[in-house]
Amino acid sequence: MSNYPNSMDLSTEESLAKNVMFGGPWRGPLITRGEGVYCYDRSGKTYLDCESQAWSLNLGFGNREVIDAAFEQAKYVYHMKGGLNTFPRLRLVEKILSLLPNVFDRVSFEPSGSIANEAAMKIAMINIPEARYFISLYHAFHGNTLATAAAGWHATKAQGHYGGGKKYMAFMQNFVKVPNPYCYRCVFNKKFGTCDFLCAEQLRTTICLGVAGPVAAVILEPVQGSGGQIPCPPGYLERVREICDEFETLLIFDEMQCAFGRMGTMFASEYYGVVPDIFTIGKALANGFPISGTVIQSKLKGFQDGNDDNFTFCNNPMSQAAAIKTIEIIIREKLPENAKTMGAILTSGLKTLQEKYPVMGDVRGPGLHIGVEIVKDPVTKEAAPELASRIYNKALENGLIMGLGGSSPQVIKIKPPIIINKGQCEEFLGKFEKSIKEAVNAGTP
Ligand SMILES: Cc1ncc(COP(=O)(O)O)c(C=O)c1O
Repeated sequence: MSNYPNSMDLSTEESLAKNVMFGGPWRGPLITRGEGVYCYDRSGKTYLDCESQAWSLNLGFGNREVIDAAFEQAKYVYHMKGGLNTFPRLRLVEKILSLLPNVFDRVSFEPSGSIANEAAMKIAMINIPEARYFISLYHAFHGNTLATAAAGWHATKAQGHYGGGKKYMAFMQNFVKVPNPYCYRCVFNKKFGTCDFLCAEQLRTTICLGVAGPVAAVILEPVQGSGGQIPCPPGYLERVREICDEFETLLIFDEMQCAFGRMGTMFASEYYGVVPDIFTIGKALANGFPISGTVIQSKLKGFQDGNDDNFTFCNNPMSQAAAIKTIEIIIREKLPENAKTMGAILTSGLKTLQEKYPVMGDVRGPGLHIGVEIVKDPVTKEAAPELASRIYNKALENGLIMGLGGSSPQVIKIKPPIIINKGQCEEFLGKFEKSIKEAVNAGTP
């Protein structure tokens, strides 16, 4: 195999990097290779990847079976426009629907999660034609297109100052946000178990009194990822489902980060036992090959003719073949169960460390969808984003990649490939403790 484009001298790298326009934070080294849960930078340094590269590599790097499936398909056809079918598209639809309750009967594919969420919004508008508004949650993240950014935290002051989305406010209408079920920092200052889901009640009041006309849909992530690893507490989604039914509003689950095993189940809807009308998938669907999807119930009208949802790259046979193989492996290797078991090991290890390092204000799952909230003081819960950032940087020095950022920059995200094993979980805990100790010793929170 030729070295191109996998080699470059350092000065060329530095000079070319200036020509890359990227609308997000730069966080780490140039990676040249990956295998399983590990990846390697240009100097050969090894990293344990607990970020799964935007939570997409559930099977880790370089899964041979997925690569073979994609490249075998490429020999036949590797690009197809949306209007022509291919075997992998049909087989993938069949595979996805086979995993779901039979109320779901159609899937569309899109090139990214943001566009899948927009597709879900379009379906809602087709089915509730007079509706002008959507409701989303505080701290939500549904993507980076103009509509999905409007549904998320980008144009709010969630980070203490306006996010980047403020520049695009001309396009950011039609979204109303209601409190999320953030039990560690409840906006109503209540304790879970005695709150009677005031946050869900606020949703009810908003639909009833705070929005002009019908609401097309409530869109939410069953576990908020970018917003700070905030899982819906038990019972919350049942309430939301009831409210949506009461007001004939559709419920959309954005399962971009949740689906395909990470929570210990194939889907978040299975984990919570609540069925949305529409849900979206992407990221781990094809273990990093670009593809996303929108799944809808049979009672709903789908897209009409006339370019409702047609994209040049909405029908990629390589990604579809990779997705079929990825799902087969997740089932064959019982990876949701592994996520549950390894998630319990990591969470309990982190909780033990919490006793030693009180700056770890909260440790929360479920499964391998883990967040650690870094605070100045566990009683006041004052957020410590600078310390979180120091821990993140120390971890990189110690060969550990984690997630950081989004609307709650004090929350460290630990979401490794769901193939991770016990030894690797122990390796993680060792590197995490070393990093937090070094970061704490380096200064005040
Ligand atoms: C919950 C959620 N929804 C949507 C998206 C957007 O997906 P994409 O970046 O593929 O457009 C993301 C990406 O991080 C996400 O986490």
